[in-house]
Amino acid sequence: MQEQILIYYWLVTAYDTLEHNELKDLSMEYKEFLKTTLPQLGLRWRRFNRKSIRKRIIGRLQELNLHSLSEYHSYLLDDAEERRQLTSLLTVTISRFWRNASLFEALKEVWLPTLLGRLPAAEPLRIWSAGCASGEEPYSLLILWQESFSGAGREMRLLASDSDKRCLERALQGGYPASSFREMPLRLRQKYCANERGIFRLPSDFPKRIDWVEHNLIWDPPFPKNHLIFCRNLVYTYFTVPLQEKITRSFHQALVPGGLLVLGRKDRLPAGSERLFQLREHPVYERLSDANKEN
Ligand SMILES: C[S@@+](CC[C@H](N)C(=O)[O-])C[C@H]1O[C@@H](n2cnc3c(N)ncnc32)[C@H](O)[C@@H]1O
Repeated sequence: MQEQILIYYWLVTAYDTLEHNELKDLSMEYKEFLKTTLPQLGLRWRRFNRKSIRKRIIGRLQELNLHSLSEYHSYLLDDAEERRQLTSLLTVTISRFWRNASLFEALKEVWLPTLLGRLPAAEPLRIWSAGCASGEEPYSLLILWQESFSGAGREMRLLASDSDKRCLERALQGGYPASSFREMPLRLRQKYCANERGIFRLPSDFPKRIDWVEHNLIWDPPFPKNHLIFCRNLVYTYFTVPLQEKITRSFHQALVPGGLLVLGRKDRLPAGSERLFQLREHPVYERLSDANKEN
């Protein structure tokens, strides 16, 4: 028995060492691979220079029975479907309720009252959550609305989009682990979620109160006539500057004049966006009128 354990231990260690060495060898090429391939997909390579992502890519290489990253690079050049596969492999879908909690305070106290104050009472406030992950952001907005604005007889229309269908499917389930709520006031979680053995479930009508759309910000046209757009921790975190510029122009088109674009805490609009947006208070930018665009 002891001998069997020793053999098992030896096999596991030998396998680990082998895998470690293979990864180490590939890591020399890895940076070069990122630098050449990712900008072609519109992605900032430095964001993906991480061990976890490297493992995912190497896993993909093994699935395809390829032996080096340069082989994979050539494969990608010839195969549009594989480029799509790689993009989705690289996608980070982490989100949480009330992410950047101070923003939700500012939305309640300043930004939503400002937008509502400018709108005729009969007109609904239109909000688009772009890159909504599994619904944490749009559901947070719905809860905020329900808590602070729904009694005033105003209407809000909320559209949530993501390029990853699986994220939207999870959003429709409306159930999340406790960790997803760590930034949200506990009283709100207790008020809105039923605890089903550790999964916190939103009210059953919540998914129906949001329009969920599969939409890719890189190639699909934007949704028009919004008063408020959220695009956090996506375009201005992972995409290259030329792609950021293109999508910033789309957001300008998609907002009414005076509408607001909300970014992630560490996101910034690219240089040159001053013709289109004015920074109100980080991370909130106001859409300028078309007259500025011409200047
Ligand atoms: C890191 S999450 C951010 C979620 C949320 N906005 C937040 O800040 O918590 C990025 C999301 O963007 C989505 N995404 C990635 N590329 C996209 C694209 N080209 N178009 C639309 N959504 C995309 C991913 O599927 C993922 O759900």
